Amino acid sequence: MTALTVFYTGLFYFASLALVGGLAYRIMEYARTPAPLKIPTTPAPTTTSGVVMRMAREVVLFESLFKSNKWIWLFGILFHGGLAVVLLRHIRYFQQPVWDWVVFIQPFGKYASFIMVAGLAGLWARRFLVDRVRYISTPSDHLILALLLGIGLSGICMTFGAHTDIVDLKAFALGLVTFDWHPVPDDGALLIHLFLVALLMIVFPVSKLLHAPGVFFSPTRNQSDNPRETRHIAPWAAALDRTAK
Ligand code: HEM
Repeated sequence: MTALTVFYTGLFYFASLALVGGLAYRIMEYARTPAPLKIPTTPAPTTTSGVVMRMAREVVLFESLFKSNKWIWLFGILFHGGLAVVLLRHIRYFQQPVWDWVVFIQPFGKYASFIMVAGLAGLWARRFLVDRVRYISTPSDHLILALLLGIGLSGICMTFGAHTDIVDLKAFALGLVTFDWHPVPDDGALLIHLFLVALLMIVFPVSKLLHAPGVFFSPTRNQSDNPRETRHIAPWAAALDRTAK
């Protein structure tokens, strides 16, 4: 194995551990954080099934963002929608044989990359062009956007210009999963793409990208509006109540 392969193999195992371990830790933290008050954003559903529907609309359609800002909604939905199709297209690198539906979406995934990059460009432009957003933008806001844009553009470069050897790449990717290691293709665009992806995996659990799992734990979204029917009492308050008696 070359030093390059050792580096990329090690990097991907490290990045996977950081991503899975970091996310598990963060999700545990979110799950343990007390929500002592009933604070759903009203008008809110009064039943659990209503809450599930509301959450589904929030996650799939970005409902509350649509109500608050049409431009951010448009760029946000373009980016996330494009990203979803692109990632589904990538499943083919990690399986043999490839599922039929993954084969089916290949051409869509190719062009979804432009939608993803257009969405990112819009979201980034807003951080320069809208005064009040520029004022509150931190370096990490810009860096995450740059990282995602770098991944998208290096991917587009490979798909539409400097083609990489997909057979070799697939041997490398499958080798990571099956612990039967193969050389990483020595190809500039691919090495940049993979390095940026690993970086994204490592920073994910310590970045604003945590909004993805975080939305499910937001009390303003995941609570039902039923305080008149059921008394809301946090576990720690219930414990205090028992001691007082
Ligand atoms: C956050 C994760 C990733 C994102 C956002 C991403 C994004 C993209 C995009 C936008 C493209 C161009 C459109 C396309 O061909 O699908 C692309 C192409 C590509 N990506 Fe990724 N990628 C990611 C992870 C990976 C990983 C883990 C691998 C390696 C296993 C990989 C390997 C490739 C290859 C080989 C191409 C070129 C495909 C071709 O020429 O047909 N990507 N990527």
